[in-house]
Amino acid sequence: MREILKTYLFLYTMVMPMMKENVQDALNKQMNREFYSSYLYLSMSAYFESLALRGFAKWMAIQAKEEWEHGMKFYKHLGERGAAVKLAAIDAPPLKWDSPLKAFEETYKHEQKVTAWIGELVNLSVKEQDHATNNMLQWFVKEQVEEEVQTNTIVLQLRMIGSDGPALLMFDHGLGKRE
Ligand SMILES: [Fe+2]
Ligand SMILES: [Fe+2]
Repeated sequence: MREILKTYLFLYTMVMPMMKENVQDALNKQMNREFYSSYLYLSMSAYFESLALRGFAKWMAIQAKEEWEHGMKFYKHLGERGAAVKLAAIDAPPLKWDSPLKAFEETYKHEQKVTAWIGELVNLSVKEQDHATNNMLQWFVKEQVEEEVQTNTIVLQLRMIGSDGPALLMFDHGLGKRE
């Protein structure tokens, strides 16, 4: 039994080399950023709730949940690779914005930043020849394209709406349909 375990562990380390420390650090950092994204969008959800924009609030609450799941993908990957999971303090997000448009402009900008960070992580995984991490990150590369398109579309549409109240309420109704 012990021999089998020893052989298994040996084979495991052969196919799955230990994650390099700099990769571990970078992934832990990104995990924290994903959790911050969740916090940021949850704060926006509360802001929209305070404006009685229930559809906007629901959309952001779902977004916050997705970001938490993104953080958990890093958490799981670190754990599966035998790397240290280092949960650090999550920064406090802003509590309010000047308008729904301003909140979504910040969302779009934030997603662009996340895309850039994912890109840096991909580069690092290539440099360190960490193929498993590279493979995991490819999911995020695709996801970020979607996230940018989604949030930029909302920004552009909110600009069209401007100060048209009834149009904003109709838009709110549409956002509330997100599952
Ligand atoms: Fe994310
Ligand atoms: Fe995101």
